[in-house]
Amino acid sequence: MTADARASRSIGVFDSGIGGLTVVRALMERLPFENIIYFGDTARVPYGVKSVATIEQFTAQITDFLLQQDVKMLIVACNTMAAVAAHIVAARAGGIPVLDVIEAGARAAVAASPGGRIGVIGTPTTVNSNAYARRIHELDAGARVYSQACPLFVPLVEEGWLDHPVTRMTAQEYLRPVLAEEVDSLVLGCTHYPLLKPLLRDVAGPGVKLIDSALTTAELAAERLNDCGLAQGGSAPANYRYYVTDVPLRFQTIGERFLGRSLGRVERVDW
Ligand code: DGL
Repeated sequence: MTADARASRSIGVFDSGIGGLTVVRALMERLPFENIIYFGDTARVPYGVKSVATIEQFTAQITDFLLQQDVKMLIVACNTMAAVAAHIVAARAGGIPVLDVIEAGARAAVAASPGGRIGVIGTPTTVNSNAYARRIHELDAGARVYSQACPLFVPLVEEGWLDHPVTRMTAQEYLRPVLAEEVDSLVLGCTHYPLLKPLLRDVAGPGVKLIDSALTTAELAAERLNDCGLAQGGSAPANYRYYVTDVPLRFQTIGERFLGRSLGRVERVDW
């Protein structure tokens, strides 16, 4: 295969459902010429409250599906899968580069926290796995990490209550113990949380830097594609394909909110 043919293959991005579109949006903005195949397991979402064994099994299935589409890079957009099943993706990927939101978010948090005090919010499975804290400590052994599970945020975001009094009160309640630790930064450790950024910025106050793992993942992807000689140059419009496991209607409607543009064609995978 020529270098151009290798670079023109798609980036495979996957998530438990709709939320990973926040990562796709950031990729589209940062890497506008890259083709993307997105997989959302909408029939089995949410993952954030499921057991590790179940998430590992689903992750293996999705990884194999994307490898069959001949992707050039895999991006685990789901924090929960990255937290407990990154090893499954790495073991199956062969020589293909694999990135995940936890690696990107941990690096950005360390860089943005001169005082070494870092807050992390995510689903219960992500927080219980301690994956963010482990990675942050590998990068900065002296860092202090304060984590908080926020299980109500995912349904609130999917309901579209991005600036609703109920969401604001919920955020104040969840963030209180983390903010009491005077953190320098707060990692938005779930695909859905970037949509709450304006509200969380208000609640956390100006002294706390919000780490949007979607943006930092897109940045890391750009870096890795260049390092591996896989960046797609030129000016041809990029091609986007979306696969889901449930009927696509809800994904299409809510997905446009996450993506900030229309989705185009969505196909259902029948497993
Ligand atoms: N995508 C998941 C995450 O980033 C949130 C939704 C779920 O629980 O599946 O952790």
